[in-house]
Amino acid sequence: MERRQFMGLFGVGMLATSLPVVLAACAPKAEESEVTETETPITKAEDAAETMGDFAIAGTVTALKESGGISTEIGGKKVYVFQNPTDESIVALDPTCNHQGCPVKLAGDALECSCHGSMFGLDGSLTKGPATEGLALYEVKEEGDNILVKVA
Ligand code: FES
Repeated sequence: MERRQFMGLFGVGMLATSLPVVLAACAPKAEESEVTETETPITKAEDAAETMGDFAIAGTVTALKESGGISTEIGGKKVYVFQNPTDESIVALDPTCNHQGCPVKLAGDALECSCHGSMFGLDGSLTKGPATEGLALYEVKEEGDNILVKVA
């Protein structure tokens, strides 16, 4: 093979192997837009986590008004959310009666344990036994329609 013939074949080979690289370099706009789209939701999720801090969503104000009370669990702890009938503030507490572990429910202007009749104030304080301790009150706040509760 003569040198001129070899160089001609070498040039064609170089062009063929570099063609995919050249084509990839010509289409950066599609890749850039995909990166931008995936970065935006990640940033929003991080912002939401910072805003919530130690709080978790227990339910919505809409659901609370429809049902009168929300019973749920956050971080393995039982949470009962209700609206104070006196001032309409939202209250969240651990509904577990310390007598034998039954859940309490809103009964007029108090919380009542249906098992053996213990009574509690709307702030969780014990007003009548046989339970011997009040209920753990949780910090609660509203953000839009969400009810956020801090159980830690
Ligand atoms: S479990 Fe609540 S009063 Fe007994």
